[in-house]
Amino acid sequence: EKGAYPYYMLKEIDDQPAVMRRIVQEYTDTLGRTVIDEDIIKQITASDRIYVIACGTSYNAGWVGKAILEKMTNIPVEVHLSSEFGYNMPLLSDNPFFIFLSQSGETADSRQVLVQTSELGLPSLTLTNVAGSTLSREADYTLLLHAGPEIAVASTKAYTAQIAVLAVLAKAVGDSKANPSSLDFDIAHELSVIATVIESIIAEKMTISQLVEDYLATTRNAFYIGRGVDYYVSMEASLKLKEISYIQAEGFAAGELKHGTIALIEEMTPVFGVITDKKTAAHTRGNLKEVESRGARNFVIALSSLAKETDQFVIPDVHPLLTALVSIIPTQLIAYFATLQRGYDVDKPRNLAKSVTVE
Ligand code: M6R
Repeated sequence: EKGAYPYYMLKEIDDQPAVMRRIVQEYTDTLGRTVIDEDIIKQITASDRIYVIACGTSYNAGWVGKAILEKMTNIPVEVHLSSEFGYNMPLLSDNPFFIFLSQSGETADSRQVLVQTSELGLPSLTLTNVAGSTLSREADYTLLLHAGPEIAVASTKAYTAQIAVLAVLAKAVGDSKANPSSLDFDIAHELSVIATVIESIIAEKMTISQLVEDYLATTRNAFYIGRGVDYYVSMEASLKLKEISYIQAEGFAAGELKHGTIALIEEMTPVFGVITDKKTAAHTRGNLKEVESRGARNFVIALSSLAKETDQFVIPDVHPLLTALVSIIPTQLIAYFATLQRGYDVDKPRNLAKSVTVE
């Protein structure tokens, strides 16, 4: 129930700290060890490549998951759009393992891939929010997101839950391989820190609302740019903005903009820069300068340790592998307020359904 909330989306954004804590409870023990079916861990440890299959927001979460999984497990990860993979299957590795990401567990595009991989006898795991859903029943294994019902068409808490559960899974597999970067990673602690940081960001929602009024009131289009995980967050941030506010938005790899898309920058075009990675921060700032000199209006979302005084929104520092879980929060609120201010129905955007059951 949305109770006192005007829209489900706002409630679901607010749910995220509790979801992070629930995931810690469900998937770790009191000593901070991961609690995940041993068979899943064995199968993944034995595989030579993980294929993540998903659509939309789940696909965007998959990219963040790839970064975490590769770091912790040393197993290469490929992320694919279900609707492409099904009909143009790439050459597979010798021992592939498939992870299907789907909030609803009912997405037809993803299901048709699962049907094919099952026919090939390949092992599969579904991460879903809905117990007993089609993708859950038909895969070999399921891990639930424990995000609680997600009603708004725009997915928010399922995105952060998917990343958090993938991080727990990465830790479980990494530990089983005695991988130092995994052994050193206290996932229960880090996700608890994340929960508190998300709360602190949500507490600033009225600041975000005002910034949105200032930056997005009349714009036709907008860009999100970043590198690495900040790029993956940019893809999700722009999907969120376009699907509910109808502002044409693109998420771009910051360094790629100058290879063509920079032509779209006009006087006052809003460009959101996501900066949470020490090794690329200076480069992304360089790219922001480039667009600024062509008239763009920059809006920087930066981690505290990398922030400058002129940045529009600063996020407290968290574990470097998990920054997406916090940098996405202001962008969800940006999409929410942009939509509210334009007078559209936040929860039910035009032309869209909550779960897409046709290919
Ligand atoms: O239920 P799923 O996670 O399989 O759904 C995939 C996409 O349809 C979904 O994430 C969609 O992109 C959302 N409306 C995005 O907010």
